[in-house]
Amino acid sequence: MRRKLPALTWVLMCAASLACTAAWCDDDDGPGHDNEHAARDMIAAGRHTFRFDTFGDEAFWGDTLRLHQAIEGSRFGGVGAGVSPKTALAVGLKVDVDALPGSLIQALRRGQVNLDDPATTLALLKLNAVIGVTGFFSPGGSSLRSIGIQCALCHSAVDNSLAPGIGHRLDGWANRDLNVGAIVALAPDLSAVATLLRVDQATVRKVLAAWGPGKFDAELLLDGKGFRPDGNTAATLIPPAFGLAGVNLHTWVGWGSVTHWNAFVATLEMHGKGTFFDPRLADAEQFPVAARAGFDNVRNDPDLVSSKLPALHFYQLALAAPAAPRGSFSAAAAGRGQRVFQASHCDSCHVPPTFTEPGWNLHTPAELGIDDFQANRAPARGYRTAPLKGLWTHLAGGFYHDGRFATLAAVVDHYDVQFSLHLSPQEKSDLVEYLKSL
Ligand code: HEC
Ligand code: HEC
Repeated sequence: MRRKLPALTWVLMCAASLACTAAWCDDDDGPGHDNEHAARDMIAAGRHTFRFDTFGDEAFWGDTLRLHQAIEGSRFGGVGAGVSPKTALAVGLKVDVDALPGSLIQALRRGQVNLDDPATTLALLKLNAVIGVTGFFSPGGSSLRSIGIQCALCHSAVDNSLAPGIGHRLDGWANRDLNVGAIVALAPDLSAVATLLRVDQATVRKVLAAWGPGKFDAELLLDGKGFRPDGNTAATLIPPAFGLAGVNLHTWVGWGSVTHWNAFVATLEMHGKGTFFDPRLADAEQFPVAARAGFDNVRNDPDLVSSKLPALHFYQLALAAPAAPRGSFSAAAAGRGQRVFQASHCDSCHVPPTFTEPGWNLHTPAELGIDDFQANRAPARGYRTAPLKGLWTHLAGGFYHDGRFATLAAVVDHYDVQFSLHLSPQEKSDLVEYLKSL
């Protein structure tokens, strides 16, 4: 519709808009101008979806798993002791300070808020202040009726400006504090998951308990593998969802593009009401659970996901990796480390500025000198060259898809052996400083 408005209307609308700078309005009143407005609208709509849209997944998390009952506790009509804000923060949930009224912020600053009482958690949910979680309350607001989750749950952090875990939103940051497994395991009824996986609920709970902070297993509901052959959890680290513009294959194992993955996650993982088509999931050998559940071709009516994908995709690509703060690395060492990065041919795969290959950015496990367990859980059977921008935001949880290298120094040691680099201790530490500076 917008495109049909005469240019003059746009100029008048622009002049009336406080958000519009004079330079921007004068700039261009042709079709390019329309595109800029549309781009801003897309970013706003995509941000809203990323932060607040449950895609109707409360039908799963609340109505089916009854997670909301564990959160409110028996005192408010649910089950068990309920979840206090202290517990919620301890499992990595974050609170958006911008959703809190001034009086509450003051009370929090003065330590006058009872963080041990599940009633406070319910109040925070009513304010829509728990990042990535939406509570649906009964009409009078007295009890929690259901609960849904959003993208922001795993892919947002806060700047801790008010207190640890309470601050301004940082969209796209990997929440490496978040213990998804512990949160899901609170659900009183996991029979839906157990039935899907053809195991008992105790087994599901064992798998969830093994995930630990910062991890989630996006392939569990496809192949039913809860553990690696070495007995460790099969879950992978939550990656950042910023710095992805210009990156071809996405996820640790290169499932596809950002929008492929957005549709996948919203429909198959979050259990939103969407449409998802990917015939690769019909392979009963690689994806036994997905194949028998028909995840290769999911349709919902109404479809609450598909109409949101264009703006969500646009927003994802608009999220730039944040620059490393001054003082968080040694600039002199990072400068030397950049030369080590080049001389060691790290940049043959991690090509700046995306730090992944323009083109088909996938490698065999053998090239990297690591096992093929996780690679074999995706159709391409490889590992995607991880984009390295903003590494400093996810120093917790380790590196590589499963966090097998606890520190950047351990990553560098691995490459030193794998590629026979023979780096000196000084070169190694310079390289680490460079990685921290990206
Ligand atoms: C429960 C936690 C969780 C939620 C909720 C979640 N994600 Fe993710 N996301 C992950 C994990 C874990 C991966 C890595 C998966 C893999 O590589 O197999 C991932 C991967 C991604 C990637 C790929 C990043 C890269 O480096 O290529 C994008 C993009 C993404 N998610 C976007 C989204 C969007 C958009 C939503 C909401 C529709 C969402 N995610 C919801 C945990 C989550
Ligand atoms: C053959 C291509 C290739 C080369 C060469 C290469 N990398 Fe990588 N890099 C990858 C892939 C693929 C991954 C993802 C591995 C995984 O997901 O398990 C990765 C992951 C990483 C990570 C972890 C990122 C994260 O988010 O966990 C760092 C750090 C890294 N590489 C740094 C380097 C450095 C430094 C060098 C040079 C010494 C280098 N890489 C050389 C392909 C390469």
